[in-house]
Amino acid sequence: MLAMSEPARADYGVDAPIAVRNMLIVCALGIISLITRVAGLWGKESPFAMLGRPLISSGLACGAMAGWMIWSSKFGKVREREAYLDLLEWRGDERVLDVGCGRGLFMIGAAKRLTTGRAVGIDIWQAEDLSGNKPESTLDNVMIEGVADRVEVQTADARKLPFDDASFDVVLSSAALHNIYNASERQTAVREIARVLKVGGRVLIVDVRHLSQYALTLRDAGFNGEEDAARTVQNIGWSLLKILTFGLVQIGHVIGSKAR
Ligand SMILES: C[S@@+](CC[C@H](N)C(=O)[O-])C[C@H]1O[C@@H](n2cnc3c(N)ncnc32)[C@H](O)[C@@H]1O
Repeated sequence: MLAMSEPARADYGVDAPIAVRNMLIVCALGIISLITRVAGLWGKESPFAMLGRPLISSGLACGAMAGWMIWSSKFGKVREREAYLDLLEWRGDERVLDVGCGRGLFMIGAAKRLTTGRAVGIDIWQAEDLSGNKPESTLDNVMIEGVADRVEVQTADARKLPFDDASFDVVLSSAALHNIYNASERQTAVREIARVLKVGGRVLIVDVRHLSQYALTLRDAGFNGEEDAARTVQNIGWSLLKILTFGLVQIGHVIGSKAR
């Protein structure tokens, strides 16, 4: 009998792969410290204790965080994407832009909801932000997910979108804008999103920080709507992550529509 091969699965990559690798290294050091402590290789007064004790706690915290980031990248984020896209009502004929699309997570999810509409993804393909981050990986996922007839991928910077004013019905951006480290440049990117949206068009920005700043910039640009922290609070994993990172990572979203 012929063995049936598994259908290919889209791979949306691991977010912040260098940070995940570093956390795994700290985790490994923490485990080594824990084993050597339990084996009685260093005592309470030993010079190793100064380093070993904090390594055990930070190693366990880093291990939990790295584990969550890998799980979330491989499984959780596809599920979360659907929940986020459900927040918008879809007609099917929208022109959609995904800013910082990476390997196409939101762009492809949106394209699946389109009939006559089209989805465009732009990115600058930064390797440190996403594993395997290159247009070829995105196009592989587009083929696997069967949306090649509705999707276009371009190399472009969020701070200078190569599109006319009012050319999109929906603009999405997930886990991308916080990678612009300069606050005024992040604001420029949000203003660019506002510029390319049609009046009545909708925006959904999901990110790990700066959400109030995005909401403020959008309001200045004539948007209704605001930061919605409710989902962050409802998600136990995200709440834990906020505590573990001392508030550095606060997953949330901003949703709104362009009123003028
Ligand atoms: C963590 S990945 C998220 C990718 C995808 N949106 C997702 O949710 O899986 C962040 C993405 O933002 C992109 N990015 C960072 N700065 C950008 C900029 N100034 N313009 C466009 N894309 C940018 C990175 O190259 C990367 O693909």
